[in-house]
Amino acid sequence: MSMDHFIDRRTFLASLGALTAGAPFAFRSGRPPFWPLGAAAGLPLRARAQAKGLLYGSSTLVRYLRDDKAFSARFAEECGILVPEWELKWEVIRPAPDRFDFTAPDFLAAYAAEHTMAFRGHPLVWHESLPPWFATTVNRSNAETILRKHIATVAGRYAGKVHSWDVVNEAIDLGGGRPDSLRASPWLDFLGPDYIRIAFEAAAQADPHALLCYNDYGIEFKWPKEQAKRAAVLELLRRLKSSNVPIQALGIQAHLRAGDPGFSVQELATFLRQVADLGLKILITELDADDRALPKDPATRDQAVAKTYESFVSVALAEPAVIAVLTWGLSDRYTYFNKMRPRTDGAPARPLPLDADLKPKPAYDALARAFDAAPARPGPSAQK
Ligand code: G3I
Repeated sequence: MSMDHFIDRRTFLASLGALTAGAPFAFRSGRPPFWPLGAAAGLPLRARAQAKGLLYGSSTLVRYLRDDKAFSARFAEECGILVPEWELKWEVIRPAPDRFDFTAPDFLAAYAAEHTMAFRGHPLVWHESLPPWFATTVNRSNAETILRKHIATVAGRYAGKVHSWDVVNEAIDLGGGRPDSLRASPWLDFLGPDYIRIAFEAAAQADPHALLCYNDYGIEFKWPKEQAKRAAVLELLRRLKSSNVPIQALGIQAHLRAGDPGFSVQELATFLRQVADLGLKILITELDADDRALPKDPATRDQAVAKTYESFVSVALAEPAVIAVLTWGLSDRYTYFNKMRPRTDGAPARPLPLDADLKPKPAYDALARAFDAAPARPGPSAQK
């Protein structure tokens, strides 16, 4: 198939969401573009999303899919898009300045293609998870070369296979005190604010097909700090768009807090519309619900987590520019919370749609209802 066919795949992808996300793999793999839908009752989340021209999926790690067959089966059943939770980060894939190791992300990209899933890249540029050599090697004079080499090598390797890239992750930090609210990071230190433009232009050159996203957190609730961060993110997006930087989407991480009373339908809907009015698509990229503020009782937590999911995702999916929802993990069996943000009472976290036994929780039903209630996105129906 000629490359011309894919020249405007980015537009094609952005406007038709899930219905096209699998298509390129389908064309390449010869499989039908649409994942065979299950029975009407108990339809998996990926099928419910696809029926509306949306994508649902999750982050994961190689070892979860390779070593846990039951989990892998559920992941394949429920997810229409896969994002590496850790294994596309610099510390994993770039053990030395002139050496790359793609063993892990190649496994995940192959798993996604094998199961007719879209594959999303995360992240190309971040201030965390940098390899040990970074601090002692990168400086003002070589930072741009090292950054461009990284993006050309990594995005180039998966060119045509990636639905979307988080090109720059978490660049806004109000605590930094800068008028542009940019986070203090090696990238800003060495290259100034222009590192963002450099990253997006390098990504567009390496993979003209992927949707190029800016991804951030702490922009979901109505608390003053989150309102201020939303405004700063919007300003950044406006600056990038007005400078013709090749950005096509905003990733909203949506690491929510279950039971937080600070959710405002109006404020979220307005923000989504403001982003959409810039001509950007929107992905919910890392959805989960922190249950640490809730009592230990699992049923109580599960109800609160489900309510948090349903409130947020139903408002998000009402915005036509929203094309995908990914949870940051599929099952409580594998959530980063137990390692990175454990509960003080030691109870296992319950932030995700499936419990540790891979059984659907109220949060799963909440997601299912949100997809079923979502307005269908334009484009051919998956049901036809
Ligand atoms: O897998 C290795 C293990 O073999 C080794 O023994 C161990 C030693 O520390 O490390 C393990 O790797 C850990 C990896 O997660 C897989 O579990 C890394 O240390 C740890 O730093 C890494 O943390 C990830 C974190 O980002 C930093 O990259 C989390 O899984 C991941 O959930 C988290 O995700 C971030 C997003 O990228 C950006 N948004 C916020 C989100 C949550 O913090």
